[in-house]
Amino acid sequence: MTTLRSRDIESLTEVEAAAELAALAAEIAHHDALYHGQDAPEISDADYDALVRRNRAIETRFAGLIRSDSPSRRVGAATAEGFAKSRHGEPMLSLNNVFSDTEFSEFCASIRRFLGLAPEEPLRFVGEPKIDGLSINLLYEDGVFVKGATRGDGTEGEDVTPNLLTIASLPKRLHAPFPARIEIRGEVFMDKAEFLAFRATQEQALADREARRARGEKLGDAIVVPANPRNAAAGSVRQLDPRITASRPLKLFAYAMGAASEPPADSHHDFLKRLEHWGFVVNPLSTMLDGEAAAAAFQRGMGDQRAVLAYDIDGVVYKLDRLDWQRRLGFVGRAPRWATAWKFPAEQATTVLQDIEIQVGRTGALTPRAVMQPVTVGGVVVRHATLHNEDEIARKDVRIGDTVILQRAGDVIPQILGVVLERRPADSVPFAFPTTCPVCGSHAIRDGEDVVRRCTGGLICAAQTVERLKHFASRRAMDIEGLGEENIQLLFDRGLVKSPADIFRLRDHRDALLALEGWGDRKVAKLLDAIEARRNVALERFIFALGIRRIGEQNAKLLARHYHTLAEWRERMIAAHVIGSEAREELGSIQGIGPAIAEELVEFFAEPRAVAALDDLVAQAPPLPAESAAASDSPFAGKTLVFTGTLETMTRDEAEAQAERLGAKVTKSVSKKTDFVVVGADAGSKATKAAELGLRILTEAEYRAMSGM
Ligand code: IVH
Repeated sequence: MTTLRSRDIESLTEVEAAAELAALAAEIAHHDALYHGQDAPEISDADYDALVRRNRAIETRFAGLIRSDSPSRRVGAATAEGFAKSRHGEPMLSLNNVFSDTEFSEFCASIRRFLGLAPEEPLRFVGEPKIDGLSINLLYEDGVFVKGATRGDGTEGEDVTPNLLTIASLPKRLHAPFPARIEIRGEVFMDKAEFLAFRATQEQALADREARRARGEKLGDAIVVPANPRNAAAGSVRQLDPRITASRPLKLFAYAMGAASEPPADSHHDFLKRLEHWGFVVNPLSTMLDGEAAAAAFQRGMGDQRAVLAYDIDGVVYKLDRLDWQRRLGFVGRAPRWATAWKFPAEQATTVLQDIEIQVGRTGALTPRAVMQPVTVGGVVVRHATLHNEDEIARKDVRIGDTVILQRAGDVIPQILGVVLERRPADSVPFAFPTTCPVCGSHAIRDGEDVVRRCTGGLICAAQTVERLKHFASRRAMDIEGLGEENIQLLFDRGLVKSPADIFRLRDHRDALLALEGWGDRKVAKLLDAIEARRNVALERFIFALGIRRIGEQNAKLLARHYHTLAEWRERMIAAHVIGSEAREELGSIQGIGPAIAEELVEFFAEPRAVAALDDLVAQAPPLPAESAAASDSPFAGKTLVFTGTLETMTRDEAEAQAERLGAKVTKSVSKKTDFVVVGADAGSKATKAAELGLRILTEAEYRAMSGM
C-alpha cells in the first residue's frame, strides 16, 4: 500500500487527480487506523508525511476536488482538542526594541563593533512598517504551499494550514524559479476599517445572544469581541472551523524566511523582490535606506503617515541589508543582532491611583503594582501599571488617591511617570512600603545595594512557592500544557502540588484530581498525558525551570552546554561553594557567567532544602543530557576554546559567537581543561600559560581554516 507517487502534479488531469485523492484518502485512513487504533504502523513517519503532503499538494491545485473525507481535514488539521503541533525548520525569533535616535545609534554602533567596521562605514538597512498582527511560518516544497503554523513558543507552533489556505494573498504555488524547500515568514493582519466593521458584527451577535439568554432560548457558541486588530487576526487564524476563518477579512505581508534548501538572494532587498516574484505581497512601504540618517528620516516619515495608513503599525523594523553580514552577526538570546524594531513614542494618559498592591515573586521580591481607575491608552484599556520598587515610589512620591500620568509603549507594561500635584487630595499621606511579607509574614529586607525588598521566608513562603511552580510549568520552562497559572494555584491550594516533583506524582492521585470541580475523565487524562510528555526535557530547559535567581534561558543554556549532564552540574555547583576551588574557577570562566550569577548558583546549592527538592525532582523527572554541538562535524564541537590577543579578520565578539555556533564552549581563562587557545597579535599571559600547560595553540589563520571559514 505504500507506493509513493511521483508524477508531477502539474501534469495530472482532473479525472486522474480525483482518482488519486480518493486512493490517498483510503490509504491514509488505513495508516491512521493502524497507528492510532492498533499502535502498529506499517510505514515510517516520513513515508506517511509524504502521503499527506502529496494529498495537500493535489488539493492545492484542484481545490474543487477536496473530498468531505479528505485527510487534510483530519491530519494536522484541528481536532476537538485543538491544533496539531508543528515544529519550525528554524526557530522563529523576536526583535529587540529601540525607542529613540540615541538607542538606534547604539544599535548601529553595536553592529559596527561586532563586525569590526570603521565608524564612518555606512550601513544599509531596509525599513519595513511593523504591523502588530499574528506571525506565521509557511512551508513551500517544490513551490507548493504544504504547511503553515503559528509562531507558538518560537520552536513549535500550531498547524493552521486549512485556515491559512483561505487567505487570498497567500500564494498556494510559487512562480518559478524557487528553492526546493523554503520557509517564508510573514504577518497576518486585519485592516483598521475591516476590523471596526468586524467588531460591530461581533457586538451585534453578542447583543442577540444576550437577548436569547433573556428569553431562555438556546445560546449557541460563545462570541468574542476582539479588543484590537491583532486579537481579531489571531482569533480568526486559530478557528477550529476553516469556514469561519474564510469569512474574516485577513491579509498577509511576507517579510522573512526560515530554513531554505538554498539561499535565494544576497541582500534582504533582493529577497523582498524574490518574494514579490513568487507571488507574495510585500509591504509597499518597505524601503532601502543608505545610512543611519536615512533610517532616522524614514522613522519620522512613518510616524507622520501612521494615522492615515489602512492598518495599525507600532513602529518600523530595520534590517541590515547584507545577508552575509546578517549571518556573521547571528543571534543573541531570542533576537537577531542585525535587526531591531524602532517603536513609536509611547502614548500617555492620566487617571486616579486607587491602590498599591504588593506582589511576591518567585525570588521573594516584593513588587508594588498600581491599581488604577481603568483608562484607555493607545487603544488598550489599562488598569494596572508597574511602580518598580520602593525607591521609585518614594522618589516620585506616588500616593494612593493621586492623579497619575501613565505611559504605555509598545507591548511593555504601562508605567507611572509622575503625579499631577495640583490634584492631590488634601488628606493624602506618603505610601508606607511594607517591611514584612504580605503573604507569609516573614521579614522583608533589603540586601546592601539592592533596590528590591525581599521576603526572607524562602521555601516556607507560599507566594514564592506558588510563583516558582508557575514558572516551572510555564511555556518557556517545562512547557506542561494545561498547567497554567490558575491550575497551579488550584492544585497548590488543594495540597496536591507543593513542589515541582509533586507534579510528576500526580498520576498517583487521579481520584483527587477527578474530585476537583469541573475536572472530568478527559481533562484529567489530558493533563496527565501532558505531564508524561514533559517528564524528560532538555537540560537547559530543566535548569531554567528551576527558577534560580539570575538564571534565565540564556544562562541556563550556557550552564547546560558547559556541564552537559545534571549530575555533573550538581556536583560541580556544590564543589564551587569553596571560593578559590577549581570548580569555582571553572564556573567563573564560562563566557557569559559573571560573579553575581556564580554567587546566586552557589547560594542555591548551599541550601540543603533546595538541593533535596532538586534531587526529589530528578528522581521523578530526570532531564536529558545537553546535546553536543549544533554542528557536530566541526573539530571544535564540544571543545573548550579560549581566544586571546587581538584578532585581525574579526572582532573577539564575532569570533566567540561563531565558535559557539560550531558547538564550542568559549571560556575566559586558560586551564588544563582548555582544548584550544587561539592566539592573536600581542597575546599576553594566557598564551604563555597555554604553552606551559602544553595546550594546542592555533593562529588566527589556522583557526579560520579549521572552522571552515
Ligand atoms: S522580522 C528575526 N519583520 O514583530 C526577525 N517582524 O518583535 C524576526 N513583525 O514576531 C521578525 N512586522 O510578528 C519582522 N517586517 C517585519 C515585521 C515583523 C511585524 C512582528 C513579528 C515578530 C515581531 C518581532
